[in-house]
Amino acid sequence: MKNIAVFTSGGDAPGMNAAVRAVVRKSIFHGLNIYGIKRGFQGLINHEIVPMELGSVADTIHRGGTILLTARSPEFLTAEGQAKAIAFLQDQQIEGLVVIGGDGSFRGARVLHDAGIMTVGVPATIDNDIAFTDHCIGFDTAVNTVTDAINKLRDTATSHERIYVIEVMGRDSGHIALQAGLAGGAESIIVPEAPFDLTEVCNRLQHGVERGKLHSVILVAEGAGSAIHIGDEIKRIMQLDIRVTILGHLQRGGTPTAFDRILASRLAAKGVDMLIEGKSGMMAGYYKGEIKATSFEDIFNNNQEFNWEDYKLASILAI
Ligand code: F6P
Repeated sequence: MKNIAVFTSGGDAPGMNAAVRAVVRKSIFHGLNIYGIKRGFQGLINHEIVPMELGSVADTIHRGGTILLTARSPEFLTAEGQAKAIAFLQDQQIEGLVVIGGDGSFRGARVLHDAGIMTVGVPATIDNDIAFTDHCIGFDTAVNTVTDAINKLRDTATSHERIYVIEVMGRDSGHIALQAGLAGGAESIIVPEAPFDLTEVCNRLQHGVERGKLHSVILVAEGAGSAIHIGDEIKRIMQLDIRVTILGHLQRGGTPTAFDRILASRLAAKGVDMLIEGKSGMMAGYYKGEIKATSFEDIFNNNQEFNWEDYKLASILAI
C-alpha cells in the first residue's frame, strides 16, 4: 500500500480535526502518501483531492469543525454517484481510505469496501449512536457544551423561580440528554429510549415546588419530541411560568475536550494501522476499555447500548 486518503463526512463533530491530523501524521510516519478529500463522499464525486503534508494539519488539534469540510451527499446514494466515486479513487490509485463520520458515513464506506477499495471507519458523531464503541469522537465535547448551557440556564431559572425545558440533539438517541442531564442535575430527562408520561414529569415538578426548589430543568432529547410542545403541555397542566431553549447546532461546535482529542488520535492511528494490516470494512472503536476493530456488518446489526443504570441514577438523584 502506497497511497491512502482520508475524509470527514456527515454532521461535523469536535475532534474531527484531531482525527485527520492523526491519520495524516501516522501515514507519513509509515512512509505512505496521504491525500485529503474535501466534502466527504461528494468530494469523491467532484474530484476534490489535496495532497496532505505534515504542515497541512499543523495548529488544528484544538479546533472544532473539520478542515476537510463535510457534506451529506444524496448523489452518493445513487448507483451513478457511487460509480463516479469508485472510478475516481481507482483513477487516483488510492488503495486505502479512512472515513471519519457516523453511521450514514459507514454505510457509504461499506459500498466502497464492497467495490474492492480498502476502507476503514473512525467513529465521529456527537450522537454517540454507534455500536461497539463506548465513545464516538465529539460526544464528550457536546456533553460538556450542554452541561455548561444547563449551568447557565440554571442561574437564570433560579433567579426567576422558573422551569426550563431544554432540547438537545442526538437524532434518534438520548445519549447526550442522559449524560448531560446526569452531569447537570436535571430534574427530568426525556429520551426516545424510554417511554415518558407527562403527568409523572409534572408530579415530580410539583413535588420539587412543594419542597422549596427554586427552579427545575427538564432535558428533552430531540428524538423524544419537541421541547416547545412539551413545554406548552407542562404550562397547561401546571399553570407555571415555563421557558424553552433549543440548543441546536451550537452543540456541534467548539474546541474539542482533551478526552475527544486523545480518543481521536488513538482511533485514527488505529485506522491507519488497520489499513496497513490489510483490514477493510471495519471500524476502529473504543470498546470496554480497548481500542479494537469491529466489522461494519456487526455495527449495522447492533445498537449502541443505552445506559439504563445511569438513567435510573439520574432519576434517583433528582428527587
Ligand atoms: O448527527 C449529528 C446531528 O447533529 C444530529 O444530532 C442532528 O439530528 C442532525 O445532525 C442535524 O443535522 P443537520 O446539520 O443536517 O441539521
